Amino acid sequence: MFKPLLFVAAIALFGITASFAPGAMPQEAAQPPAAGAVNPVKPTAHSQARARKIYGIDCAMCHGDNGDGKTDLARDMELTLKDWSDPKTLAARPNQELFSIIRSGKGKMPPEAEGRAKDDEVWNLILYIRSMARQRPAAAPTPAAAPVASN
Ligand code: HEC
Repeated sequence: MFKPLLFVAAIALFGITASFAPGAMPQEAAQPPAAGAVNPVKPTAHSQARARKIYGIDCAMCHGDNGDGKTDLARDMELTLKDWSDPKTLAARPNQELFSIIRSGKGKMPPEAEGRAKDDEVWNLILYIRSMARQRPAAAPTPAAAPVASN
């Protein structure tokens, strides 16, 4: 949503006639969360180590170290937690939705305040959570079970 606006603003700024390479725009600045479904951060070893640390302190007690949600606290609080180690669980959930849930909380899930994880750290948490699915290879589809197109 913001990028086209920025682009237009940049063109207005530099003059319509100036030769302008969009690819040269600096991408370093943190994007606001409303930037869309694309995760604006690129994971680095450092940022993912930080995400793992935050997750261990603020999230693992409910969601579990491996994201399967089978924790004592979840049982005690009678939480219904999804199993993120199953690749199907988060596959269809947009990043923006996950961001909102982490930042604002939902149901019995408490919000993660800015003082505990800045926006870019929340985005890295989302990458970290999604990476949990890859630790278990998806079951290989059996050719016989593949749906046959009917038309
Ligand atoms: C007190 C337990 C608790 C803690 C701590 C907690 N969550 Fe949750 N989380 C939940 C519950 C319960 C839900 C399901 C909310 C619903 O749909 O009603 C949930 C849902 C989510 C979802 C949405 C996807 C899904 O599986 O439904 C994400 C993403 C998520 N949590 C991430 C986090 C992250 C990241 C942290 C740490 C910053 C965290 N949670 C900390 C309990 C917790």
